[in-house]
Amino acid sequence: MKSNLFLFLAIVLIANSCLSPNQKEYQTMIKLQNHSFANPHEVTPIHLNLNLKANFQSKVLEGFAEWEIKPVNNVHRIQFDTKNLEIITTEVDGEIIDFSKEKDIEIFGSALVIPIQKDSKIVKIFYRTKPESEAIQWLSAEQTKGKPFLYTQSEAILARTWIPCMDLPEIRFTYNATITCPHDLLPLMSATNPQQKSNDSVYHFEMQQPIPSYLMALSIGDLIFAPLGKECGVYATPDMIKQCVTEFEDLEKMIKTAEDLYGKYYWGRYDILVLPSSFPFGGMENPRLTFATPTIITGDKSLVSLIAHELAHSWSGNLVTNRTWEDFWLNEGFTVYFESRIMEHLYGVDFAEMLRKLDSDALKKTVQEMLQSNPNDTKLFLDLSNRDPDEGMSDIAYDKGRFFLQTIEHYVGRPVFDSFLKKYFHTFAFKTINTATFIQYLNENLLDAYPDIKDSIGVNQWVFEPGIPDNFPNIQSKYLNSVDSLIDRLIDGTPINVDMFNNWTTHHFLYFFRNLPFDYYSNHIEIIDSIGQFTQSHNAEIACDWFILCIKSDFVEAQPFIEDFLTKVGRRKFLEPIYEAMLANTKWNDFAKQTFAKAAKGYHAVSYNTIKQMLDSKFGS
Ligand code: BES
Ligand code: ZN
Repeated sequence: MKSNLFLFLAIVLIANSCLSPNQKEYQTMIKLQNHSFANPHEVTPIHLNLNLKANFQSKVLEGFAEWEIKPVNNVHRIQFDTKNLEIITTEVDGEIIDFSKEKDIEIFGSALVIPIQKDSKIVKIFYRTKPESEAIQWLSAEQTKGKPFLYTQSEAILARTWIPCMDLPEIRFTYNATITCPHDLLPLMSATNPQQKSNDSVYHFEMQQPIPSYLMALSIGDLIFAPLGKECGVYATPDMIKQCVTEFEDLEKMIKTAEDLYGKYYWGRYDILVLPSSFPFGGMENPRLTFATPTIITGDKSLVSLIAHELAHSWSGNLVTNRTWEDFWLNEGFTVYFESRIMEHLYGVDFAEMLRKLDSDALKKTVQEMLQSNPNDTKLFLDLSNRDPDEGMSDIAYDKGRFFLQTIEHYVGRPVFDSFLKKYFHTFAFKTINTATFIQYLNENLLDAYPDIKDSIGVNQWVFEPGIPDNFPNIQSKYLNSVDSLIDRLIDGTPINVDMFNNWTTHHFLYFFRNLPFDYYSNHIEIIDSIGQFTQSHNAEIACDWFILCIKSDFVEAQPFIEDFLTKVGRRKFLEPIYEAMLANTKWNDFAKQTFAKAAKGYHAVSYNTIKQMLDSKFGS
């Protein structure tokens, strides 16, 4: 062991002595800060001119990223984040300048270092992506059962896997882009978008408002557009477009509601892109063009709160942005609160209360589990140093965050809180904010005026302490209480029948599944299924929760359907609990492994990595 250490040190020393003085200086200067190797305090990128050609055969994007930069005095180099990018050449103000790549860390990639001077203006990077770029999913025609498809997912730190950039939420830039793609496909970005295919397959995009790198997005597919209002619409594949139009028919009203609540929508158009079902998230708030999973297309509009959520990010996140990923709750907590207000306005308080009840139950369960394994991650303000920021993506940021805001609302009253929030969005528009600044702003603009209330809210406990705070709201749902009484009757021996499910929405079913006791469902799984036909459900939310009960009660008849689901749907929120249930029940372990082996090639890297890690930690890699 010791001699190995000496050998290692000797190699490091020899390697270092081969470096030029400049390179040595870089190596010591380049530090990972806020998950990035960039040096934004020495030089800031202000505009990006992106030019990429998509090659579906080789699964490569190739072209250049030309950055307009603003150096401050005495800067000698610019550092970009890159991961898995093949850099071809770099130019500074039209002259080829040698670059170097420094560091290489599994999660964070490496620094692309280009020498510049204090009056340098343009840095141009010719590069190509690799097929394994984590942001990008390339889907073949067989996989889509149609035409090839591509989409990117940049949040949190995957923009660097398809664009060399300062990959930090605190850095904002405007961009324009030229995308060349196969002639029968339409490219779309988080920018001004075409509504139909062009003749020459070359498309131009423009984003005039400055955005952080995690909101860079591209998708290419056989897409068509349908309007949903004057300034909003939906893109989907031709087979889906009609259903999408019906599902999202309230979109214009949603935008109006959001503006009435918290002020002007700053981004021009708001469109939705419905992606293939392998999309690893429910939605992604790419500016002007929300990316959405098709699993919310249920035919009854019951899952449109997801659109309210992504729309709300146009204020909380895209306009006022978390400064670091440790402040992620400022993006997501505010957004869930805002989403809930939109839902309440459009669909009534009882419906919104039903959603809040499901979320508050789920949060309590998550907190209980996390208090055993990683209690510090149940704080709103996270410590993510040297960790993948993806680890911060739990119910905590979302629901502890939103119930914190709801608690403030409860104490100060809705009208006062609404005007506070409206002012907050206005004050920090196109800026970033961290947790400390938010608390200071909250005190100075709201709570200092109410000293008693300030004590009762207990901001510090909510933000900096683990667990569920003492004054956590007690959520009661009229609709879901009726499900509770049904469960009581079933346990008492009343036979189940289909009329019991009359007028139920997706959420009634979720609450039903989550609250049926094991003793009951494990003994009645077949009869419940024959009445409700849940195993065959086309509603992914219902199918997911139902499959978990099937796995826990060894209902093997469901296996072909579970396999089918897991090979079609790539949304991590569904995959994770289903695989988790299969790993927890030894009888299902082999099935889990076999299914993953079949399904994995269809997963986006985000989902693939999570599930692979779960399997590896159970069975070894
Ligand atoms: N911005 C998130 C998705 C995200 C977060 C991607 C962190 C990568 C890292 C998006 O707005 C979101 O929250 N999506 C949720 C839907 C929502 C209704 C809670 C999802 O995908 O489930
Ligand atoms: Zn969100």
